[in-house]
Amino acid sequence: MTPHNHASKDAYAETVLLPGDPLRAKWVAETFLDDAKLVNSVRNCLGYTGTYKGKKVSVQATGMGQPSLAIYVHELINLYGAKNFIRIGTCGGLNEKVKVRDVVLGVAASTDSAMNTGTFGRYHYAPHADFDLLRKAADLADERKMKFHAGGIVSSDVFYVEGGAKGYQPLLDHDILAVEMEAAALYTLAAKFNRKAIAICTMTDCLITGDEIDADARQSSLEEMATLSLDLAATL
Ligand code: HPA
Repeated sequence: MTPHNHASKDAYAETVLLPGDPLRAKWVAETFLDDAKLVNSVRNCLGYTGTYKGKKVSVQATGMGQPSLAIYVHELINLYGAKNFIRIGTCGGLNEKVKVRDVVLGVAASTDSAMNTGTFGRYHYAPHADFDLLRKAADLADERKMKFHAGGIVSSDVFYVEGGAKGYQPLLDHDILAVEMEAAALYTLAAKFNRKAIAICTMTDCLITGDEIDADARQSSLEEMATLSLDLAATL
């Protein structure tokens, strides 16, 4: 038990899906898991454990942004023994080749956050996904003929960035695919504690073209992302 999580010590599976949105955690648990049980509801940051294709899997909401995610993931690692983390979320497009609905696998996550500056000092540490998870996720996406991209993303602390896409110009110039708000902290924590992590994001709004996903496509895209992530969880 912690101030953020009242689950019992053995409440979580080794593999945890991490949406930002608590209601998405509820939806994943209730739609796709068998025997899903609510294990945490502190601050309404809902966490569930159930089974998927016979494998014990948890889904825990992280809230928005790296400081919030880092609290839940730190505790999942250090108090609850979780080993594999699959962030599921949306991202904003920063690259012409990424279209609305495309899935982005975050190979590495640059960041504008100060969270790592204190730790790494003069080093520009490159938070990165686990290669095993990355390879398996790409293989599963290929099998399903999903349109996906694997490459660099940016985890930004600022949703409403001054200048829109132009606010990310140096990153646009270096082939960054998309912006979200959590992966860099997740990857850094996973590396520190020898865990595995990947961010799997659906592009919902393109900062370059202004294209946005519509409500029907949002739902089916979220379903594709959730089942891809759960199939990945089932292999671990
Ligand atoms: N910025 C950050 N995170 C996001 C965005 C965005 O534009 N769209 C979806 N997630």
